[in-house]
Amino acid sequence: MLTIRSLLVVAMAAGLWAQVGPQPLPRLVQKDGRYALFVDGAPYVMLGAQVNNSSGWPAMLPKVWPAMEALHANTVEIPVYWEQLEPQPGEFDYTVVDTLLSQAREHRLRLVLLWFGTWKNGSSRYVPLWMKTGPNRYTRMMDAKGRLVDSPSPFDHATLEADKRAFAALMRHLKEADQQRTVIMVQVENEPGTWGGTMRDYSPAAQKLFEGPVPAEVLEALHKGVVAGQANWSAVFGADADEFFHAWSVARYIQQVAAAGKAEYPLPLYVNVALRDPFNAPPGSWESGGATDDVVPIWKAAAPAIDLLAPDIYSSDSPHYFKFLDLYHRPDNALFVPETGNSAAYARYFFAALGHQTIGFAPFGMDYTGYVNAPLGAPRVNEDLLAQFALNYRLSEPMMRDLARLNFEGKVHAVSEEERTHTQAIDLGPWKAVVAYGLPMFGPGNNPSGNPEPTGRALVAQLDDNRFLVAGFFCRVDFQVSDTASGKQREYLRVEEGTYQNGVFEPVRIWNGDQTDWGLNFTSSPVVLRVSLGTY
Ligand code: DGJ
Repeated sequence: MLTIRSLLVVAMAAGLWAQVGPQPLPRLVQKDGRYALFVDGAPYVMLGAQVNNSSGWPAMLPKVWPAMEALHANTVEIPVYWEQLEPQPGEFDYTVVDTLLSQAREHRLRLVLLWFGTWKNGSSRYVPLWMKTGPNRYTRMMDAKGRLVDSPSPFDHATLEADKRAFAALMRHLKEADQQRTVIMVQVENEPGTWGGTMRDYSPAAQKLFEGPVPAEVLEALHKGVVAGQANWSAVFGADADEFFHAWSVARYIQQVAAAGKAEYPLPLYVNVALRDPFNAPPGSWESGGATDDVVPIWKAAAPAIDLLAPDIYSSDSPHYFKFLDLYHRPDNALFVPETGNSAAYARYFFAALGHQTIGFAPFGMDYTGYVNAPLGAPRVNEDLLAQFALNYRLSEPMMRDLARLNFEGKVHAVSEEERTHTQAIDLGPWKAVVAYGLPMFGPGNNPSGNPEPTGRALVAQLDDNRFLVAGFFCRVDFQVSDTASGKQREYLRVEEGTYQNGVFEPVRIWNGDQTDWGLNFTSSPVVLRVSLGTY
């Protein structure tokens, strides 16, 4: 048994697994209130990165793969452009998708494809040319004064039907062309909704529905004690009516696109979200209609074919970051961070995301095509920048399957440094792990000052009652007995530094003396420790 298992582990790690026939479909699994993305039949963490918007073309790929290699990513998120896929109505060109598949396989990477369809950042930039001009022109939304808004109407039946047909064609093609399951998830549209302060569509078709009764599933989702069929949106939701109606309208449209695709090939599907400031959101300051935190239940009710709603996090301060992770890590929603800023300040948040049981993480704009989206992200994308993020993935890549399994079992605790607080405590029942930032390696840890920039991160994974995997960067981790009244003291029985070889922890040395007397210090080296604790 052992031999067969080790052979399988080696085969999977070497990528040979992908060559032996159809693999189980990637799927999102929920158990005991936790989620995992299963890839090749086992929990998987996407150590991801997203390329720039115009980097999904074959000519650009030579500038993509080296960046992925530098990052030690295992998954790359790349757009599929409707304007490229369907150059003429009903004629599909799969050459670009096929190139993505074959080159991703050559580079031993998994793909998350991003369907740039009806919506891209609230507008319709990626609909085919034949839908931008001529008789098949798509319909834009109308504002309250009857003016056209640069955002597609979710009530444009012809565009919906065209998007359904194109997305279904893409998924059908993947079903045929991807027995290896190189593609593990698909994003449906990109940051759908409407920018610019128009909260909903005021076209006659929209207006009629807005004045009609709120659908029963929305009332139920928001626990409104209103009898279905009795009250309209304004009566039920007051000042929120416009936004809630738009969320329902956009979600209902995307549900139909997603369902058409899923009927062809049931990969996990998600929608990404341009977020609303959870601490200060004056009306009109966010993209109405998207799955912002206030309308997640509406999206869940209206779009059951969407497996998860995923926050694009571009706030680098820790109160916002942690809040966004909390808001999208819900019993009814698996956390996935499909986009985050690529400046160095964001690198540490891979750990906080893991601590919120994320199924993946992907800084945005990670390629060498020369485009930078500063001030949203880094002013330069070069090896030095990628190295900040590569720390995370170099550490996690060899232990990814263990990390994913332990996280699915609720055993991974991970934190990222805050700006103003320089210690964090991780509650492990009888043990407490204290993470401190900005301490020297030698000497007591009374007054940590924080790192010059908040770059620290730490991870503690429980193996059994008194044994833990511990890893981190730019921090010190120390264990204490939780019950201070017991009079018991912690003793490091054994601290092994190891490497993961094909998913197995291989000790290379034992830490002792200075290396443990003051706690366990982590620098910029990717180090994993297996720590056994006792008391005296
Ligand atoms: C969020 C979008 O989803 C991305 O496609 C991109 O436009 C970034 N914003 C900005 O670079």
